[in-house]
Amino acid sequence: MRISVLTGAGISAESGLKTFRDSNGLWEGHDVMEVASPQGFAQNPELVLDFYNQRRRQLLEVEPNAAHLALASIEKSFDVSIITQNVDDLHERAGSTEVLHLHGELLKVRSTYDENLILDWREDLHLGDFCEHNSQLRPHIVWFGEAVPMIEEAIRKVEISEIIIIVGTSMQVYPAAGLIQYANPESQIYFVDPNPSLTSTDRIKVFSEKATAGVPKVIEEIKSF
Ligand code: OAD
Repeated sequence: MRISVLTGAGISAESGLKTFRDSNGLWEGHDVMEVASPQGFAQNPELVLDFYNQRRRQLLEVEPNAAHLALASIEKSFDVSIITQNVDDLHERAGSTEVLHLHGELLKVRSTYDENLILDWREDLHLGDFCEHNSQLRPHIVWFGEAVPMIEEAIRKVEISEIIIIVGTSMQVYPAAGLIQYANPESQIYFVDPNPSLTSTDRIKVFSEKATAGVPKVIEEIKSF
């Protein structure tokens, strides 16, 4: 059985990473367009690099939680694709082997000269850190207004899945939020979020709880099929 799992910031909240839109979330303290857009980077690159440097340092201090681990564990029984909006690597560290990052990865940077020149990066990134073409390196993050190159692959995964599990996302950012429209009409959808943006229907079963509580329940149910 094929399962696609669409995750957002909420799955990493219990690991200690802030979400974006909850109260005290990342976007409450920052102007999104200043720190997460190409225009913001052009205007004040130091501010943008500093924002992602802080995120990267925090990421290196936290660990995957029980929800990430539970999703990795079902690979033994099912064909699982994780499609994440998160730029952290907690799914990979939990052991998931197929993780598609729609919005990029915090532990990678790329050349501003050649977008296909991508490097692993665990340190702070500074102005003056250049690629081999002597161009500034930037975070490997999909900023607002930029294309989401992985979306086509994500759509293909969703289309062929019998089960879709959505965890910890406000479903406000497109095209990620639109993925659910590509689900096969026969598929069963689960949604785990303490403040869910979807309501239960015949096809959608909502667990209004935190990821570490809700994800294991969804998995129990799937295993009993
Ligand atoms: P949001 O911050 O918009 O939404 C977080 C969701 O997580 C909310 O629905 C919360 O109710 C839920 N949540 C909070 N704590 C939780 C927990 N312990 N367990 C489960 N869910 C919990 O984050 P995203 O939907 O991921 O993009 O945001 C989408 C995109 O917007 C991000 O990828 C980011 C942002 O702008 C970029 O930066 C490109």
